[in-house]
Amino acid sequence: MVKEDFLVLGIETSCDETAAAVVRNGREVLSNFISSQIDLHTIYGGVVPEIASRKHIEQINKVIKEALLKAKVTLDDIDLIGVTYGPGLVGALLVGVAQAKAISYAAGKPLVGVHHIEGHVYANFIKYPELEPPFLCLIVSGGHSHLVMVKDYSEFEILGRTRDDAAGEAYDKVARAIGLGYPGGPKIDALAKEGNRHAIEFPRAHIAGAKYDFSFSGLKSAVLNYINSAKMKNETINKADVAASFQEAVVDVLVTNTISAALDYGIDKVALAGGVASNTHLRGSMEKACKENNLELYYPDPIYCTDNAAMIACAAYYDYIKGARSGLDLNAVPNLRLGQR
Ligand code: KG4
Ligand code: ZN
Repeated sequence: MVKEDFLVLGIETSCDETAAAVVRNGREVLSNFISSQIDLHTIYGGVVPEIASRKHIEQINKVIKEALLKAKVTLDDIDLIGVTYGPGLVGALLVGVAQAKAISYAAGKPLVGVHHIEGHVYANFIKYPELEPPFLCLIVSGGHSHLVMVKDYSEFEILGRTRDDAAGEAYDKVARAIGLGYPGGPKIDALAKEGNRHAIEFPRAHIAGAKYDFSFSGLKSAVLNYINSAKMKNETINKADVAASFQEAVVDVLVTNTISAALDYGIDKVALAGGVASNTHLRGSMEKACKENNLELYYPDPIYCTDNAAMIACAAYYDYIKGARSGLDLNAVPNLRLGQR
């Protein structure tokens, strides 16, 4: 067991957000500070790894200072440092890992390296103090799409995964094709509200022999083909209809696979995680499907769906309780798999 009022400083730099947070007892967020680089990368239509690393270096000290200040604590009060060490962009991850190790060494505080995707799952604990494993979690972010059974804290079993593009990646690519810019998810989410989601019948991929797996590259190609063939015929496309119909196809598959896994495994709690979990259509459709099947649905507030350090602090707390400790040899692991230590 750990002491009462256990404070974790979380650090996250796996992609394009430099983030630090202080979390009490694994679930109570005292501060959650995020410095986003989105504006910088928007110019290039996606995240430029080299720019991301440089920006993290510029921001990291300020962001940690701000997180401590907002939580009204000092480094002395911190009991544990949790840092994302994978998966992600190696140069970006290294900034957070090096910083966390330096603080751990200088301040004499224990260190735990956290799996970024597990962090996304733990974001649910912030909003729902009563939520306990086991539960099923659909993780849909810019780099990952997984259907996972959370058997216990720090114990995950992957039931399904994407065969190609992640859901968020498909959103970003389609958004770019219809000229909406980066990041595409929130833009398609907003535009789709003005469109007819049944206007165009885009394909839904179901994979033989792997009923919980996803595939979004065929759908993405179908949308690109639709746009190109309209261009060749000099026809203008209805962007809102394309956005709504694409989104309908993505959400349809995500909801179908999640509900079928929940029923097959006899689990009555379903959670969403990752950037795409803030999608309003996904939330609405999953809510409806869960209600129809007597399942309880959980999803984090939007600020905890996209990358943040509070979720990393939560994960570090539970990993620490389960015995996880990292040394000063902790390294960034860009392709770290779920469940791998
Ligand atoms: O979890 P996240 O912040 O980063 C990764 O770990 O990948 O997810 C970012 C992804 C981006 O692809 C973004 O387009 C998508 O989440 N996203 C959304 C929405 N908000 C963010 N996708 C659909 N609807 C949204 N409202
Ligand atoms: Zn993420």
